[in-house]
Amino acid sequence: MYIKQCECAGDAVSITFADNQTQQFSLFWLRDHSTDKTSLNPSTMQRDVDTFSLPPSTAATRVSASDDGAVLRILWTDDDIVSEYRADFLYQMAVTPASKPAYRLWASELQNDVPDFDYQQVVDSEASFLAVLEAIEAYGVVTFSGMPSDMQATKKLLEQVGYIRETVFGGLWDFSNNQAHSDSAYTSVGIGLHTDGTYTIDPPGLQLLHCLAFDGEGGFNQFADGFKIAQVIKDEDPSAYQTLTQVKVPAHYIEPGIQLRGQHPVITENSAGDFEQICFNNYDRSPFMLSDEQQKAFYHAYGLFQKLLNDPAFQINFQLQPGRAVWFDNWRALHARTGFSGFRHLAGGYTNREDYISKLLTLRGQTPWHN
Ligand SMILES: [Fe+2]
Repeated sequence: MYIKQCECAGDAVSITFADNQTQQFSLFWLRDHSTDKTSLNPSTMQRDVDTFSLPPSTAATRVSASDDGAVLRILWTDDDIVSEYRADFLYQMAVTPASKPAYRLWASELQNDVPDFDYQQVVDSEASFLAVLEAIEAYGVVTFSGMPSDMQATKKLLEQVGYIRETVFGGLWDFSNNQAHSDSAYTSVGIGLHTDGTYTIDPPGLQLLHCLAFDGEGGFNQFADGFKIAQVIKDEDPSAYQTLTQVKVPAHYIEPGIQLRGQHPVITENSAGDFEQICFNNYDRSPFMLSDEQQKAFYHAYGLFQKLLNDPAFQINFQLQPGRAVWFDNWRALHARTGFSGFRHLAGGYTNREDYISKLLTLRGQTPWHN
């Protein structure tokens, strides 16, 4: 992008970009976003300018476009700093791109198309690992083949993202049907579709489940795309959708010495209006009261979400065998497990959402102002 024309009038600069879009930038905003070395640390991208000591009526002596319109230059009146702004950066700030979420909604048709990766290739190659993260970004669920059936492999995969999240269940955990914690994950009973950590303030980002041993029947892992369910409700019952985005549902986890509490709407949107997070776990929901009218609306909307989740048309399922793993976005994909007989031993762990996003952005080489 380049600047076609720029003009300072009053307390703002008017910029016309190459595509003829024009945007006003206030001088105060420009001074606050100056990229000169005394205003912005070039290596950490942290702001050094003291926003709060800038005069409200900051003024410019000269405003010009240089480098064939690739850069805007401003000479300020009240200090000798020359600020430079790349046209690309200004354009990015000025033009709100049409919302184009990176996710692709899916239902049962994904059954035979879940992105599958070879474990060794992924741990050996950053490019392959980026492909894994981009598949998680797109679908919220991927699988792995060829994993050694030991916890070193679980750990290695998790640490490709960063540090493993510590919770009351530990960091890197393994569980079998031995009832080691007061949670149904540690039994052999079926568990319906849910997201984990609805009782935390910041629910876990990614969850890895790695099968170390299985000698029995059943134990299918089921998944549903929470964003797809949200889209269906948004299209078909806007009032229920609104309820699910507005009512914060409290949840708890209790065991001796531990009482965790959190509350989240079932559906959260980001600032662009795209789906950002699904929190749904009826097992862990805490008692809470709403007004009669809100309560009716809530039970209707919550029931609709559950009804769609339980429709096989929205589900995929597979049985993890030793050497296989599934990694999924706990902010999007709801997971379940059917009951089983025999012995089943899984290992796994969580990573925080910001660490997964951080790794994705870093491997892609994205800068802070590129969304
Ligand atoms: Fe779970």
